[in-house]
Amino acid sequence: MNIYIIGMPGSGKTTIAKQLAKNLNYTYIDLDAMIEKDSLMFIEEIFEKYGEKKFRELETNALKEINCDQAIISCGGGVVTVKNNKELMKGLKLYLDTDITVIKKRLESDYQRPLLKQTTLEQLYDDRFLKYQDFADAIINNNYDIDQTVKVIENYLK
Ligand code: S3P
Repeated sequence: MNIYIIGMPGSGKTTIAKQLAKNLNYTYIDLDAMIEKDSLMFIEEIFEKYGEKKFRELETNALKEINCDQAIISCGGGVVTVKNNKELMKGLKLYLDTDITVIKKRLESDYQRPLLKQTTLEQLYDDRFLKYQDFADAIINNNYDIDQTVKVIENYLK
């Protein structure tokens, strides 16, 4: 079974997905990295040159391309904005629920997401939180310690 990690930018998806893949001996897949590899462009470049709509098409295509069945997939924060993506994400979808204040701290030291040049984190969250819940099979709090979150997920999978 594949496990899709969803949640806001900065919610800790990549870190959790990598650790989980290592512990469970699953393949780690980064959906943004797949998009960059397929398009031979950086995410920022896709947004700048072609806009969000095109990016979403590439993201959906990348989901269609996944052909493993024991992978942990770290998805871009906006994967839930395209309703039909839910059906393409066959497997378990885990939503990392992280407070905006925690996300803000984490993003301070990270690269600037292209969408956050156009909107705020609060706005993105308001637009998306119901969608994350709709996609999710389980909601996992990730406000605290990464190892703790990974343990919670591993227990859930037992
Ligand atoms: C996006 C989040 C990014 C990336 C793109 C769009 C979004 O991924 O897919 O910039 O719409 O929230 P992360 O969630 O890994 O930052």
